[in-house]
Amino acid sequence: MFENALMLLSGAEKKSLDELDLDHTQLDQFTEWLRSLEIVFETDGHNISIPAGIDLLDSDAIHSLMPNRVAACLDKVEVLTEIDSTNSYLFKKSLSDKPGTLCLAERQTAGRGRRGRSWVSPFGTNLYMSLLWRMPLGQASIEGLSLAIGVAVVRGLNGEGFTGFKLKWPNDLLLNGGKVAGILIEMKPATKEHVELVVGVGINLNMPETSASKIDQPWQDLSDGMKSKSRNQLAAAVVSSMVDVLVQYPQAGFAGLKDEWDALDAYYDKPVELHLGPRTMRGLARGVDNAGAIKILIDGGIQCFHGGEISLRLADDSRS
Ligand code: BTN
Repeated sequence: MFENALMLLSGAEKKSLDELDLDHTQLDQFTEWLRSLEIVFETDGHNISIPAGIDLLDSDAIHSLMPNRVAACLDKVEVLTEIDSTNSYLFKKSLSDKPGTLCLAERQTAGRGRRGRSWVSPFGTNLYMSLLWRMPLGQASIEGLSLAIGVAVVRGLNGEGFTGFKLKWPNDLLLNGGKVAGILIEMKPATKEHVELVVGVGINLNMPETSASKIDQPWQDLSDGMKSKSRNQLAAAVVSSMVDVLVQYPQAGFAGLKDEWDALDAYYDKPVELHLGPRTMRGLARGVDNAGAIKILIDGGIQCFHGGEISLRLADDSRS
């Protein structure tokens, strides 16, 4: 309802009510809305400004920042001001004739993580995006796709000059030991020919302190590195990298990305614990196999464990 006024204020200049096309009653509603989004503003009752400005997402900008080969794969790019979860939103949709719908939100009120966790998603700072994708069923296992997307996100961020990432099986992105990005892939029932997926990615760019206190695990953001970057540019780069991997996946599978994944492995050769429901297995992490299963050296032999509800942590670390 007030999206246009917010956009006019995003550049940090002071605007009058006339310029924003608001009357005094609407100003009260607008400022109430800004407060609910935790946006800091200044007003004297006739003029209003957002002194820090906001780097708002823009669907046209994101689309135009993608290479043509990627843009051609997308049906549409949608930016929502607020939604419960971009994954839930796209999961309810079904694909039109074109393969991909990309949805980004400025804020998620019920952002979802893996294993029932929530994903803290304050307004206008980080990236929350989901891609609805139709994958032909080939030889490649869908299990490895979750790891492949992790590699794709690292590639996308590296391409924008952000480095130092590690991957924690199956696909958590870590930076300096804290989680900086998470991936949630959800699948609709498959037909004989294809499966429809929602690939959701959350990346912490600049986590406000008020939201940081709600995160229940060690976390990181890209903070200072974001000062000279636009969120639109970063979103376009990461999604482009994901689309390239998704397009190649039915033929190439995870095998072609396995070495890249192993090189990024946060836990390679480290003592780890695997929690399989009530059971705990201990051993040395030895990377992943061609299908994306984690390899653990246990009692002198390698055992492979597949995804699902397994959780992995360092043997001496109770935080992750
Ligand atoms: C994880 O727990 O590691 C996965 C986090 C995934 C978060 C993203 S944010 C965009 C999309 N929408 C959601 O509700 N979750 C994913």
